[in-house]
Amino acid sequence: MALALNGAFLALSMIPLAIDFFPKPYKATTTVRIGVGLAQESDLGNGTLGGNVPNIALFDGNGNQLGTKHGKKTINGGEFKDIVVKHRVHADNAPAEYISITSGGTDQICIAYLAITMASGDKNQFYGDVGKQCGGKWYPSNLLVETNDDPEFKPSCIWLGSPDPGTADVFAQGFSFHVPDFGSNQVRAMGYQEDPATMCESKPRFHLWGSDLTSEKQCIPVFNPPLAYQSDGSDPVDTSLILVNGSVTCSPGPGVPMHPQTNAPMNASQILQTESNGAKRKSKIRRSNEACGCSSIVISDHNAHSAQEVCDSPTSMGPDFVSTNEGLFCDMCTHTIYNVCTSNATKGCFDLSSQTLKPGPILQHRGLNTSSIALHQPGFVPAKSYDKVIHWT
Ligand SMILES: *[C@@H]1O[C@H](CO)[C@@H](O)[C@H](O)[C@H]1NC(C)=O
Ligand SMILES: *[C@@H]1O[C@H](CO)[C@@H](O)[C@H](O)[C@H]1NC(C)=O
Ligand SMILES: *[C@@H]1O[C@H](CO)[C@@H](O)[C@H](O)[C@H]1NC(C)=O
Ligand SMILES: *[C@@H]1O[C@H](CO)[C@@H](O)[C@H](O)[C@H]1NC(C)=O
Ligand SMILES: *[C@@H]1O[C@H](CO)[C@@H](O)[C@H](O)[C@H]1NC(C)=O
Repeated sequence: MALALNGAFLALSMIPLAIDFFPKPYKATTTVRIGVGLAQESDLGNGTLGGNVPNIALFDGNGNQLGTKHGKKTINGGEFKDIVVKHRVHADNAPAEYISITSGGTDQICIAYLAITMASGDKNQFYGDVGKQCGGKWYPSNLLVETNDDPEFKPSCIWLGSPDPGTADVFAQGFSFHVPDFGSNQVRAMGYQEDPATMCESKPRFHLWGSDLTSEKQCIPVFNPPLAYQSDGSDPVDTSLILVNGSVTCSPGPGVPMHPQTNAPMNASQILQTESNGAKRKSKIRRSNEACGCSSIVISDHNAHSAQEVCDSPTSMGPDFVSTNEGLFCDMCTHTIYNVCTSNATKGCFDLSSQTLKPGPILQHRGLNTSSIALHQPGFVPAKSYDKVIHWT
């Protein structure tokens, strides 16, 4: 089931963005446009709205850093931001072959796409769907990207954030990827579809990092020797060349704890200090709780969005989700699917006009396949209402 869905999305995730969609090129500068599907809104009253802009690092094919940019300020859900990374060497127009993106703070963002314009003017894209296929926490997005092939393409987004204090790493804190491997090559897309491990279990190609990669100053593993593609751009036949851990060729590498303020490696005594100094973290409702806090809901009219898919996925995360097209509602707290009310059924379903879940007995499920049916309170739908309704048209 999961693999069938993966297949459908993989084919899509290689479609090229339209040229006009990219930022303009500048000398010795790489511009990364980040599209954010959703962002955690701070609950500190009027404080910042939106998630933290992430950190970015660029590497050449040998794993040497070309340039870095520390994330500043915030970005709102449904928006994009252009992050301009100057290369260290002023005359250096080398393409970024590898990119790492790490969380810029405690306010999570869900990244739907990256549109990258190299110093040379070359362009590449990366979609959140890759992270979703590879087990990252994801959510649908309402960001329509301009592609050459599919006018309706709205990539899924992948959550990036700091871990919940005192709990396991709920969120990836960063990801890194080999840029040319996600260009618009249909042969390669087919290869990933046939053997998803070649996409998800090749550390230099794509990797979701936990607390071992938290800073743009950290180096990432690269293919060493560089991958030799076949003439049509597909992977070498010998997959042992792909399913590798790669080599980290500069320092510090992943796993070296970094000081949150100075962005320098920390020694053991500093690590102890930071851990005991919990006051540095803003106290706020964490997103993982928020999913169960009934505070917000997304109602989507987009044809390709599926509440069934969101509910069936153990890795989806975000507000409760309604697909008006399917007539289904997903309670993200329990991953339970319910019907949207109709003129005949007005209880035990989600009512679009009042935007509330109406309590009542469960009459009939349209999506009977799922493991997600009302395990929690068999046969009865609870009442639920929302502070914030996000309507995706
Ligand atoms: C919060 O923001 C609103 C709208 O910008 C403003 O009217 C209000 O005064 C602000 N409240 C505080 C406590 O800053
Ligand atoms: C990659 O690293 C892991 C953990 O150190 C190790 O178990 C695994 O064998 C390595 N894989 C390869 C292909 O070297
Ligand atoms: C660790 O860092 C602290 C504070 O910067 C410094 O005083 C100490 O000498 C360092 N210890 C080692 C072993 O490097
Ligand atoms: C409501 O019920 C009637 C009679 O059973 C049926 O003909 C009609 O299609 C139903 N309408 C909806 C929206 O389900
Ligand atoms: C239910 O599962 C079957 C087989 O696993 C599949 O063919 C069908 O498309 C699924 N239906 C839905 C609504 O997911």
